[in-house]
Amino acid sequence: SKKLLVDVDCGVDDAQAIMMALATPYVEVLGITCVHGNTNVENVCKNTLRVLQACNRLEIPVFRGAAKPILGNVISAGNFHGQDGLGDAPDPNAPGLDMLQMEGAVSALIRIVNENPGEVSLVATAPLTNLALAVRMEPSFPSKLKGLYIMGGNIESRGNTTVCAEFNFAADPEAAYIVLNDFLCPTYIASWEFTCYSKLPWSWCDDWLAQESEKARFMARIFRHSMEVSHSERAQAEMVDGMGFVSCDSYAMAAAIDNTFVTESDHMAVSVELTGTHTRGMMILDTLGMLKKTHKAFVMRKVNMERSSKNGLWTSSWSQPL
Ligand code: BDR
Ligand code: CA
Repeated sequence: SKKLLVDVDCGVDDAQAIMMALATPYVEVLGITCVHGNTNVENVCKNTLRVLQACNRLEIPVFRGAAKPILGNVISAGNFHGQDGLGDAPDPNAPGLDMLQMEGAVSALIRIVNENPGEVSLVATAPLTNLALAVRMEPSFPSKLKGLYIMGGNIESRGNTTVCAEFNFAADPEAAYIVLNDFLCPTYIASWEFTCYSKLPWSWCDDWLAQESEKARFMARIFRHSMEVSHSERAQAEMVDGMGFVSCDSYAMAAAIDNTFVTESDHMAVSVELTGTHTRGMMILDTLGMLKKTHKAFVMRKVNMERSSKNGLWTSSWSQPL
C-alpha cells in the first residue's frame, strides 16, 4: 500500500483530493493535518471532519496545525471556496471539534514519519506553514519522507492571488521558501498554471455531480458555490487557457496516487521570491542552474487526462457508492 499524510486547508479542491485518496484501495491515509488558508484553521478542521464523515472514514486522525503564517497576516479565499471554506452549505450533523486529536499537527507529522521512515509521501495542498515548522522542529524530517507532493507556486508568473503569486505560496511565502530549500527529498510540484492547463471539462463535472451516491450528493453541495464562481466571466478571464473546472489540489493528489498521471516534468531547482514589491510569494524556476542548488524538484508540466479518466482516478472519489 501507499502511505500518505495529507496537509490541507480544506476548501473544495482539498476535499476532492482527500476523497480521491480515500477511494483508492491501495492508499492508506495515516492522518490529515490542518492549517490556515482557504479559511481559518478551525473551519479547516471542521471541513476535514465533514469530508471524512461523508466518506464514512472518521477513524482517520485529524490534527490542528498553524493558525497563521510564519510572518504577516492570514489571507483567505472565501470568495472562491465560500466563507466557511466548503461552499457555505452547512451540515447540521457535522462532527464536532471534539473529534480532533489532542496532538498538534506539527508533532503528528514528525511522529508519524518517524514511525514509518522512508515510507510516507506527504501531499501538501495548503500554505506550507506546518511543513516549515516541522523541519525546524526536526531537521531530519524531510529525509525520512518518501516524497513530497505540493500544490502551489506558479511557472509563468501568472498569480491567482497577487499579480505574480499563487495562493498557497502567497499565503505564507517564508514557509514556501523553507520547504523548497530545506526539503531535500523527492519533490513534485503542481503549480497553478499547470493545473489550469489540465482543466476538468464541465461535462465530466456535470456527470459526476449527477451520480446517485451519498458522496456525490455531498460533493454537489460543497462544490455548487465554487462552480458558479468558476462559470462567471470574470473567473474565466482570470484563468489560464480556456474553459473547464480547476480542482488544483486534486492534481497533486493524482500525482501522488498514480505515478503514470504526470507525463512530463521539468527537473530543476526552485525557490520563492520573498522581497519583491509585486513578486513576493512567486515561485522562481532556476532554468539555468544559477542558484547553484544541488536539490532539484520535479515541476509538473503535462498530464494524461484521458488515461486518468479511463482508469477512474477522478470518478472514484465522487461516484463510488458507500
Ligand atoms: C490553491 O489555493 C487554494 O485556494 C486551493 O485550495 C489550492 O490549494 C490554489 O491556488
Ligand atoms: Ca488547498
